[in-house]
Amino acid sequence: MEEKKMTDFVDPKLVPKRKLYTGAEIPVLGIGTFGSDKYGAREISDAVYGAVKSGYRLIDCASVYQNEKEIGETLKKLFDDNVVTREELFITGKVWNDMHGDGEVIASCRQSLEDLGLDYLDLYLVHWPFPNYHAPGCDGDSRNTDSRPFFTEEFMAVWRQCESLLKEGLVRHIGMSNMTIPKLEKVLPLCEIQPAAIEMELHPGFQQPELFKYVQEKNIVPIGYCPLGSPSRPERDRTAEDVSDMELPEIVEAAKAHNVHPAIICLKWAVQNGQIPIPFSVKPKQYVENLRCVTEDPLTDEEMDKIRKADKNCRLVKGQVFLWPGATSWEDLWDLDGEIKGW
Ligand SMILES: NC(=O)c1ccc[n+]([C@@H]2O[C@H](COP(=O)([O-])OP(=O)(O)OC[C@H]3O[C@@H](n4cnc5c(N)ncnc54)[C@H](OP(=O)(O)O)[C@@H]3O)[C@@H](O)[C@H]2O)c1
Repeated sequence: MEEKKMTDFVDPKLVPKRKLYTGAEIPVLGIGTFGSDKYGAREISDAVYGAVKSGYRLIDCASVYQNEKEIGETLKKLFDDNVVTREELFITGKVWNDMHGDGEVIASCRQSLEDLGLDYLDLYLVHWPFPNYHAPGCDGDSRNTDSRPFFTEEFMAVWRQCESLLKEGLVRHIGMSNMTIPKLEKVLPLCEIQPAAIEMELHPGFQQPELFKYVQEKNIVPIGYCPLGSPSRPERDRTAEDVSDMELPEIVEAAKAHNVHPAIICLKWAVQNGQIPIPFSVKPKQYVENLRCVTEDPLTDEEMDKIRKADKNCRLVKGQVFLWPGATSWEDLWDLDGEIKGW
């Protein structure tokens, strides 16, 4: 019994950390909290309790995931039960696209803090770089006629609010998500406070090497979402061409060699590659093994190299619901030819 308990726990001291440019530390792996329509708020918040009890210290939240109140109840219980202190956790929040207006970023952050029952967030991200809203769970073909392309001035108005949240002490770091090099080239020179981290889609089948290198060279920590290729993502986010990361021959081969599930290989690769993956799971066996894998049995240089070459440049979260009237394809959102598409 005691032995089983031990296997359910990964000592957080053994989980490596990365340093943000402020000198603050962030664990190299965290737990995601987006349920992909498949898992409800209570199930996810219960998983957060189990994950923190198992040794997780990084939690990736967002207001649009519609579960911050339940996660807040979990956090309170974790503190009341003396499982962790607030200072031991690193909690990320994100402002959703419908709250980009004047004062709205600040209001949204305050609401997240209230829902999560916290005084501050460790990291606050601009979830998407434009104010394009779609109802959670809407069909992939649905379009909002109010959607707009990216405008530097509009983004900077959002960023200024993030900067003021940091100055007020409501958040300790600020960052961005779903950015591209052309957009970063526009906004980074205008930031009074530089982003400490950028969240982006990263998995073996979609490695974004140029953006990844660019971000690292700017001393910004890359946080990788969908690190397992998001196998449970909603149907609306799937296309026939999508790769399944955990079935890539290079991943399967390494999984056999290490006698682990292919998911574990994706996570080891991510961490050894310098990312901070935030895999989602509500299943204790999965989330414990996901954390444990960063503490033992690393991939060889040869395996790392094979996985690097397995990149399929296959973006899974295409963002097509954010397209503005007049845009032709989801590719318009990602500045593929180096140009920011607009009206
Ligand atoms: N910034 C953004 O725009 C953005 C976008 C997307 C996601 N995110 C964040 O990134 C997090 C992770 O992305 P994601 O949830 O889409 O995808 P993911 O972490 O790549 O995949 C999660 C799924 O993988 C399976 N899984 C997890 N651990 C496993 C293991 N050890 N063995 C086998 N299968 C395993 C589970 O499937 P089953 O449930 O079927 O077992 C789980 O639902 C999200 O929760 C969210 O916090 C951010």
